[in-house]
Amino acid sequence: MIVIPGPSSKELGIKIGILLGARVVHVEFKRFPDGESYVRYTDEINWEDVVIVQTTSPPQDTRLVQLLLLIDAAKDLGARSITAVVPYFAYSRQDKRFRPGEAISLRTMIKLIEASGADRFVTVDVHNPDALRYFKIPTANLSAIGLLAEYAKGCGLEGAFSLAPDEHALPRAKVVESVLNGGCGWLTKERNTITGKITVAEKTLNVQHKDAVVIDDIISTGSTMIAATGILKKQNAGRVAVMCTHALLTEGAKEKIIEAGADMVVGTDSVPNDVSAVSVAPIVADYLRKGF
Ligand code: R5P
Repeated sequence: MIVIPGPSSKELGIKIGILLGARVVHVEFKRFPDGESYVRYTDEINWEDVVIVQTTSPPQDTRLVQLLLLIDAAKDLGARSITAVVPYFAYSRQDKRFRPGEAISLRTMIKLIEASGADRFVTVDVHNPDALRYFKIPTANLSAIGLLAEYAKGCGLEGAFSLAPDEHALPRAKVVESVLNGGCGWLTKERNTITGKITVAEKTLNVQHKDAVVIDDIISTGSTMIAATGILKKQNAGRVAVMCTHALLTEGAKEKIIEAGADMVVGTDSVPNDVSAVSVAPIVADYLRKGF
């Protein structure tokens, strides 16, 4: 097996390769002056099982095109099989037609990945696991929530209340609760499908002078976490840790969440940035080790 760290997941790809004891093949990348992407394998790819690690966090469209080029070229150069490891799967939230006439963007991305020649697809905490049914090739949706919970425990948050900022995140909060043992609950969130604006309903939680961990799959603008943190602080919660798998943190989200009263913002290296305190490398390597 060979592991190819894509330009968006260089460190993660190397970590996965080391954990697997696999050959790590580096690739040359560049962007043309007009913005187009270029990739070139500088090592031979023989009849080998190839793992391409390329997250599709911003700039999503560029990352996706690089992924497609990497898959197609590896197949063309003689790979026996290709596993695309895409820890953050862009467009996964547009998994259905919310308004008439909308593109089902996730389905389009899936068609492109399959058409490029991927034989397997591996992702982490995809927004709606059910949406992976659009794939015809085998898929795996791994979860980093257990690792995030262990990280919270390591930060002295044992006994903290686990909060899902919306009902969809409740299974995730339950996983955190199983590690921290401090109770768990959820909030009710509504999103305006035209403006994207969210409203989170006030609700009494059992958090007076108690630490809390808010857990979600994605932080994008931070609106969801800001609302959840505000509710916790209003109810005199102790320390508030805001955690997610994919910390996209657009529009100064981290600073706004801290301003709302959170003590820490934690994400994984599915989106490499200054809050990536947890690596998804062990769960990916573990899965690949078992899968081959
Ligand atoms: C959607 O329901 C997701 O699970 C997240 O809650 C959402 O993507 C977070 O977005 P934002 O940070 O913009 O509120």
